Amino acid sequence: MHLFQWQGQLILLNFLMFMSWRPCRGLNVPNYGSTFRANPTRRTESFAGRREPVYYEDEYEAAATRAVSQEVRRAKLSAISNPDFYFPPDPEADLAEANIPVPVIEKQKSRQAAAGGAEFSYNPKDKNGPSHWYRIDARCGGRYQSPILLNTSSAHLVSRKRPLRLDGQTNLPDTILLQNDGHSAKFTYRWRIGADRPVLRGGPLKTKYLFDQFHFHWGSNSSVGSEHVYDYQRYPMEIHLVFYNGLYESFQQAREQVDGIAVVGLFYEIYQHSVDEQLNTWTRFLRNVIEPNSEFTIPFIDTFPLYEVIGDVEWPYFSYEGSLTTPPCLETVTWIVATKPLLVTEKEMRQFRQLVAPSGPMVNNFRPVQKLNHRRVFLY
Ligand SMILES: *[C@@H]1O[C@H](CO)[C@@H](O)[C@H](O)[C@H]1NC(C)=O
Ligand SMILES: *[C@@H]1O[C@H](CO)[C@@H](O)[C@H](O)[C@H]1NC(C)=O
Ligand SMILES: [Zn+2]
Repeated sequence: MHLFQWQGQLILLNFLMFMSWRPCRGLNVPNYGSTFRANPTRRTESFAGRREPVYYEDEYEAAATRAVSQEVRRAKLSAISNPDFYFPPDPEADLAEANIPVPVIEKQKSRQAAAGGAEFSYNPKDKNGPSHWYRIDARCGGRYQSPILLNTSSAHLVSRKRPLRLDGQTNLPDTILLQNDGHSAKFTYRWRIGADRPVLRGGPLKTKYLFDQFHFHWGSNSSVGSEHVYDYQRYPMEIHLVFYNGLYESFQQAREQVDGIAVVGLFYEIYQHSVDEQLNTWTRFLRNVIEPNSEFTIPFIDTFPLYEVIGDVEWPYFSYEGSLTTPPCLETVTWIVATKPLLVTEKEMRQFRQLVAPSGPMVNNFRPVQKLNHRRVFLY
């Protein structure tokens, strides 16, 4: 039964993949040059005063008009052919650290919360609503924020692309910590052996990124919910799989670095054919975290691999440089947003909508779209 459902989903997904294939427009945007990534300064500073970011200019602006210098070519080749990087010596210790949701910003938030409730809110009418998040953290007012509008027609097609790979997608974690953190339902995988942790690489990414957690954004009804808007359409839900750069020792450390985070976003669309069918059996665990700030540990016997959540990673996708979509809104995220939606039933959506946030039902927990501001969006 389970296998049969998956086959149905895969056939549909393959069809959608075929539909969304577009002939290439011949732009050569294989890799970001090394200028940008090697620059240790903040993204906003490195972009300041430039109309266009420099890091792919020479590739994008017709190679015919301007010869690429030997130095630039060498730098690029070494960036491409040397993807090796340093693995932290003790992944288990790093994992333990990654799971502690601390630092400065959090402390600041809880102090404010104690002093009259400055937790961020998704309600536009609230004094802590999205347009006031910059008061909770100034970085939410930055110029390279997420989510954004993604348009097929204005995206830059990447012709010479490296495949995006997600290794360890079928690995089973030791346990999964499910949390209602007051803003979303978050599944954090805990690994017995650090090496089992899924690794994302290729595509727009220069190094390996280690899987940390996934969570969701959804609506009060199925006409809203996703954070990104794809060709002017909002989907009922969007999943974010959060990865951090293996160059850094933990998620907390990586998220402060310019190349620290990669988030894979996938939309969900409603599976129309049957009301009662369960496509995403793991949604049954949501009933254990109805109350805000509650958590539930899914024991090993009930754990499920990432493959069961998102299937194969073989869809065309958008990629751009953006931010976390909740305070502190750090602009350190390479976004990878799939063009092929996953499927969810209305029944499963109701399981999400029954969760409770501190201010009421946990619904419409998506941030409004942000300005693009001279960023380029690539279609792989
Ligand atoms: C998509 O189109 C809208 C409206 O034309 C525009 O404001 C937005 O910047 C576009 N997004 C991208 C990624 O090009
Ligand atoms: C769905 O929810 C949105 C946001 O709350 C609301 O604006 C819209 O009217 C709702 N649509 C339907 C069909 O109920
Ligand atoms: Zn998110």
